[in-house]
Amino acid sequence: MSGLTVKAINPAIGAEIEGLEPTIPLDEETVRTLRAAFDDRGMLVFRDFFVDAAFQQHLLYSLIDDDPPPDERVSVQVSNKEQGGLAPYGRLLFHCDNMWARKPQPAISLYGEKVEPPSAPTRFAGMGYAWETLPDELKARVEGLEARHGFDGGYPNRGGDDDVLDAAFPASAHSVRPVAMRHPRTGQTLLYVSQQATNELLGVSDEENEELLAALYEHLYRPEYVIDHDWREGDLVVWDNIAIQHGRGTVALDGPERTLRKVTGPMNIDPDEYLPPSFSKVEERTS
Ligand SMILES: [Fe+2]
Repeated sequence: MSGLTVKAINPAIGAEIEGLEPTIPLDEETVRTLRAAFDDRGMLVFRDFFVDAAFQQHLLYSLIDDDPPPDERVSVQVSNKEQGGLAPYGRLLFHCDNMWARKPQPAISLYGEKVEPPSAPTRFAGMGYAWETLPDELKARVEGLEARHGFDGGYPNRGGDDDVLDAAFPASAHSVRPVAMRHPRTGQTLLYVSQQATNELLGVSDEENEELLAALYEHLYRPEYVIDHDWREGDLVVWDNIAIQHGRGTVALDGPERTLRKVTGPMNIDPDEYLPPSFSKVEERTS
């Protein structure tokens, strides 16, 4: 018996898990139960769950049925206080990490290491549920389209908001994917466009681009289906970075401490398509 409790967080995405013993390795039945919840809900939350980076990585790789690379640094920090912390300030629009890369990165996890209230929430939105519930008329208009994702002009949809962190990606890396993209592991159809990373829909006029993307974003980010995760120390959140987008509220350098330990699944980035952004520890990891 896995002895786990799986409780849905909202109708679209997310499950809170209780009763997990953080042991390495996790037993087969536990992994089966967790994987089913992960594939079904896209995002798992564990609270008051004080674990180290090694367990965080073991859990994440168990969920995607993969083995961690032995030579990779296990964790980095997202922090407004720690030296060299990733994304140390600003607001983050909804995105999947490395949406521009040729191969999607399957999973991400964050753990609350040092969190002083009030702390900006991490926000989550589900692309599978968004596709399922997209009105038929809109579905018919975007079904056969492809979208281009990339940061080669900075984030494309900053919209004049100075709070939005605009990472200076010098790379001209980008990806082109179907708007109705099939998830490579679960087979679910996803509404695969995001506020932060999508440049344009291909093959439609500028006006139609603007109109369609605005309508798709309105549907994707309906407040009733977004989860705002308010951090506490000892929170672990693991999510499917292909099916679930994340963003966050504004973080200030002189605000309360917000230090989260980040462990990711395989980055799947070819060295020739990547140059590091200017703000983060990613520079250290790739140099
Ligand atoms: Fe991110």
